[in-house]
Amino acid sequence: VLKVHIYRSFLRPIQEKLLTRVFRQVVHNNELHILVMKLYLYGDSFGNATLQKFARLLQDDELKSKVERHYADEEKHAACLSQRIVELGGTPAFTPDELKLKLLESYFAQLNLLHTNELGLSEERLHSQAFLEVPEIIRFLVFAKAEEEQGALFFPAHLRALEKDTRTKALFEEIVQDELRHVTYLSEELESYRRLGYQREINEAMVRCRRSRHRLRLPFGEASNTFLTVLDMCHYRPVGKSAAVLMLFLRASLRAVKAVTRATNYKEGAATARPSGQ
Ligand SMILES: [Fe+2]
Ligand SMILES: [Fe+2]
Repeated sequence: VLKVHIYRSFLRPIQEKLLTRVFRQVVHNNELHILVMKLYLYGDSFGNATLQKFARLLQDDELKSKVERHYADEEKHAACLSQRIVELGGTPAFTPDELKLKLLESYFAQLNLLHTNELGLSEERLHSQAFLEVPEIIRFLVFAKAEEEQGALFFPAHLRALEKDTRTKALFEEIVQDELRHVTYLSEELESYRRLGYQREINEAMVRCRRSRHRLRLPFGEASNTFLTVLDMCHYRPVGKSAAVLMLFLRASLRAVKAVTRATNYKEGAATARPSGQ
């Protein structure tokens, strides 16, 4: 409880401010902006498809109708994002170069966690005919809530950064409202399962979800490398003094990480080379 309180009152506002700054840079560069919107589009399409499969296997009509509304929202977001991407001069599908990015790879892996043993709703299970058991429903809801919370953090920051682009602004205003509603209803559903005595299952799913997502995070060197690659791909030029300083810092730290990795590899190489040389 204390951790959550500290996060909400101190860390979250800082995180939101930093994110808004990052998004200001993003919206200043059309190519970069399009790429970020393509990531949202991918997430919404994935959400729409999996929520549809999930709803089909629910016995509880009340929850089912909430999930149906949820996937209709995601479908609408995907359609609007696709249209806006085209209007901004992009193509909704990822290009072969974009698909090579580690950033995308790790995002795809994050979404695919749902189908792995760690979170436990395989594609086969979602395509089967048997209704879902409560622990399975809980695992799905916990996973969906984590994804929606991520969206509820990113979209408002993105919205705050949009200044003159009124069309994207109107679209994001609608998306933000929907994402907040998704987080609320998912939290309420989990809360009602907790009251029914499923506290242990919920805790277990939350721990698994947090751990698996954490494991998928790119290490600092790789993350800044992929970040710089994206910026290069989008012919990015920093806007403002702080962005230029950040870029210098990133490039310098990446060089440092690379140098350390090379030195470690060299030492390891030397250590393994010795016995074979004797
Ligand atoms: Fe969405
Ligand atoms: Fe959503």
